[in-house]
Amino acid sequence: MNAAESQPRTFAKGISYQRLLDSDSRAVPEILRRENRFELPPSEIAVERYTSRAFFDLEVERLWKRVWQMACREEDIANVGDHIIYDIAGISFIVVRTRPAEIKAFYNACLHRGRMLREAGGQRASEFRCPFHGFAWNIDGSLKHIPCQWDFPHIKPAKWNLPEVKTATWGGFVFINMDANAEPFDQFHGPELTRQFARWPLERRFKQAHVAKILRCNWKVAQEAFMEAFHVVATHPQLLAGLGDSNSQYDVWGNFSRAISANGTPSPHLSWQPSEQEIFDSMVDRRLDDPPVAVIADGMTARQVAAHRAREVLRPALGGDVEQLSDAELVDSFYYTVFPNFHPWGAYNRIVYRFRPYGTDVDQSIMECMYLSPYAGDRPPSAPIHWLGPDDDWCDAPELGFLARVFNQDTFNLAKVQLGLKTMKKKTVTLANYQETKIRHFHHLLDNWLARA
Ligand code: FES
Ligand SMILES: [Fe+2]
Repeated sequence: MNAAESQPRTFAKGISYQRLLDSDSRAVPEILRRENRFELPPSEIAVERYTSRAFFDLEVERLWKRVWQMACREEDIANVGDHIIYDIAGISFIVVRTRPAEIKAFYNACLHRGRMLREAGGQRASEFRCPFHGFAWNIDGSLKHIPCQWDFPHIKPAKWNLPEVKTATWGGFVFINMDANAEPFDQFHGPELTRQFARWPLERRFKQAHVAKILRCNWKVAQEAFMEAFHVVATHPQLLAGLGDSNSQYDVWGNFSRAISANGTPSPHLSWQPSEQEIFDSMVDRRLDDPPVAVIADGMTARQVAAHRAREVLRPALGGDVEQLSDAELVDSFYYTVFPNFHPWGAYNRIVYRFRPYGTDVDQSIMECMYLSPYAGDRPPSAPIHWLGPDDDWCDAPELGFLARVFNQDTFNLAKVQLGLKTMKKKTVTLANYQETKIRHFHHLLDNWLARA
């Protein structure tokens, strides 16, 4: 690597992401050529944001009760009457398809004496009947039945609809918002996000896997471990031969941020030059005693072989469109964060993450990983959530493939981060200026939300 090829963009050694794109075998979409750096000064983040009950309660009031948040996939509730339960920070919702093209979300509580109406989702319901005394509502939220109606002369049935919250859809996801005065969803998400995903329509995917795990750390501690590649050198050293970790690019727009990490190029941290075969083996997590997944011929690069293989995997679902996809879109990692907790990956990596508090516990959270895959013909059934407890191994979810082992490495740290934060004498965590851009941007947005009375 000569000096001219060094990386001025992030000041790391190695090839910049933009330079790497120059060698793509296809035309690279314009959105991958864009950079939009977060310009605010370096960030110190108060430790209490992750540990304090008062801060958690403020988040509930000023963030969760006001912000647009992803509740489920549309195909999770494909038919009229299908419903799921979405819980956020101790507040529970029934999200139900009320008509073929209408979705509503209701507070999951009976208006009589408050019992939760549903403990779990279900299919083709015709009503929501409370198990305690039998009050019942139609799936559109209108009151259906009052047991011993003679004893409730004070109830005006027309005024006893289940209270509902706003809903919206984007990319095949259902979003809800508890704030009746919330800004319209399209304004919150903005046209830029839709523009960036136009080539990768998430609404034309099906949910092939959905794993949720309870973690012993604050929801932001969990989320922030998946918003940078800076930790790879220490946490996932097995990936370094095939991941340009510290050459990753980080950009922000409005309410979302994007990281791009190149695969099939070695880490600038390496003091040795891996062969293309070693790079490829690292990308597919080949262990010493596994047979090679592909033998990289002389003159071929691991990126080219990985892109070719990905095109063939996607061809049955996408047909000839795969020929238009750049190597980058087939090989690299584009990990978006839509404020506050929704992380769809771009291009044809299948990952979507969501992070949220576990009930009202400051010190526990739920991490979810979905795989959204393209398909041909009829949409295959949506995978139900596979729950893992705090002590379960991610490898208990074999549907995640080799990522399960990577997640084990990530989550090994997280409970210890939470404990460390509580014992820390220093009152702030200190963020890298560039590589922790997404975390800095998140806290900048969070500050704005929490400041609104
Ligand atoms: S609490 Fe629901 S019917 Fe009484
Ligand atoms: Fe990680």
